[in-house]
Amino acid sequence: MDKFAKLIIDDKTYELPIIEGTEGEKAVDVSNLRTQSGYITLDQGYANTGSCLSSITFLDGENAILRYRGFPIEQLAEHSTFLETAYLLIYGHLPDQTEIDSFSAAFTRFSMIHEDMKQFFNGYPSNGHPMGILSAMIGALAAYYPELMNPNPTKQEIDKITVELLAKIRTITAFAYKKSIGEPFVYPRHDLKYIPNFLNMMFSSPAKPYEIDDVVVRAMQTLFILHADHEQNCSTSTVRLVGSSRANLFASVSAGINALWGPLHGGANQAVIEMLQMIYADGGNYKKYIEKAKDKNDHFRLMGFGHRVYKNFDPRSRIIKARADELFEKLHIHDPLLDLAKKMEEAALKDEYFIERKLYPNVDFYSGIMYKAIGIPVNMYPSMFAIGRLPGWIAQWKEMIESPNMKIGRPRQIYIGNTNQNYTPIEQRATVDPQKRFNPAK
Ligand code: CMC
Repeated sequence: MDKFAKLIIDDKTYELPIIEGTEGEKAVDVSNLRTQSGYITLDQGYANTGSCLSSITFLDGENAILRYRGFPIEQLAEHSTFLETAYLLIYGHLPDQTEIDSFSAAFTRFSMIHEDMKQFFNGYPSNGHPMGILSAMIGALAAYYPELMNPNPTKQEIDKITVELLAKIRTITAFAYKKSIGEPFVYPRHDLKYIPNFLNMMFSSPAKPYEIDDVVVRAMQTLFILHADHEQNCSTSTVRLVGSSRANLFASVSAGINALWGPLHGGANQAVIEMLQMIYADGGNYKKYIEKAKDKNDHFRLMGFGHRVYKNFDPRSRIIKARADELFEKLHIHDPLLDLAKKMEEAALKDEYFIERKLYPNVDFYSGIMYKAIGIPVNMYPSMFAIGRLPGWIAQWKEMIESPNMKIGRPRQIYIGNTNQNYTPIEQRATVDPQKRFNPAK
């Protein structure tokens, strides 16, 4: 039987349909509320707003559950590969041998970028942030595929753009790194799998071939699988919003990369390491920084802590912490930043401020330390997150574009500005407070 919620405004009652998901999540459907009543709902930061119906990822923040297409993240991190998980997210089922073989072969076939695109790298300064370069280059890929610009793409066009993006994001990321350190580009190899191929493009050089270490591959595999999707987060919602205007997938992903860049989202892994390095350089007095994080008059936050949805613990951080220990032990690395991170975590978890607000280490608290051990430079950590998150962005875009109910994303607002004003000539206007005048940074 259909259920309804009742909303009473003044003396009128409105019936709003109740929607229930397969895992028992409930929503009040307000899509027609404005037409019926003239009211909209207001929810800044979309903290309590569902933007779509989705069958890709289930996340229960209270109980620290994360599943891709119903499969627990713990099982995928232990047994799956990044490519298999990408396939699962995008196509909805675990692939059989024929499917994974052709998916994998397509990566080899499409991993090269157009030779002309290499010129782009010459235009960037060597210290340009890799996320800026990555988003620009992914957006620019659209120029090379006019045949994939169809606003109503066919299944085959979606498959093609999917594999082009997944294959090329590695090459672009590795080329940007090589350019930044002044070394020649290393081309993708047909005999290497997805992650070894990326590591080889990053770290091998004519002077010194890179030896692929299974422990490093396993660590990176885990990180990419854990990053692969996280339902309607900031960057994924951006990809959906941009795609909802029927902009192509290159443009939508490029926008997603920019949304991911921020330190409150995928840029947090870089911010965590920079924070740990700063605390270490300051004598390792982490307690001082925990106090700063609690001080409302101080902008400092404990990076890698807290999450909009997880209010118990982030299941991804537990898997990462265990994998970090394994990586450090097998590579015989001792990083004082790992010790510092563990001490900070222990102290914060006992602190009333963090307990009350349910602030736990998130996926980014330990991921940066792992990327550091693998040899990835700090400013590239958000790009690593982007490679990992790409299957999720594609899956979410595909689900949206294939939905018969797809609508352009277009939220409303409550206007709180001036009411009607009359234009005045400049000589009749009052002098503006000098503090508020246009004054760009030098
Ligand atoms: N350090 C200190 N206080 C914090 C922190 C933190 N890292 N995170 C939240 N708080 C406090 C916040 O000041 C607020 O306190 P009060 O209630 O007294 O005003 C309370 O906790 C709730 O915080 P919020 O900012 O309203 O929560 P949110 O859901 O809007 O923000 C967050 C979530 C992840 C942006 C935030 O926790 C944060 O800034 N964390 C640090 C950045 C970070 O690690 N981001 C990576 C997230 S995981 C990767 C991904 O999926 O994006």
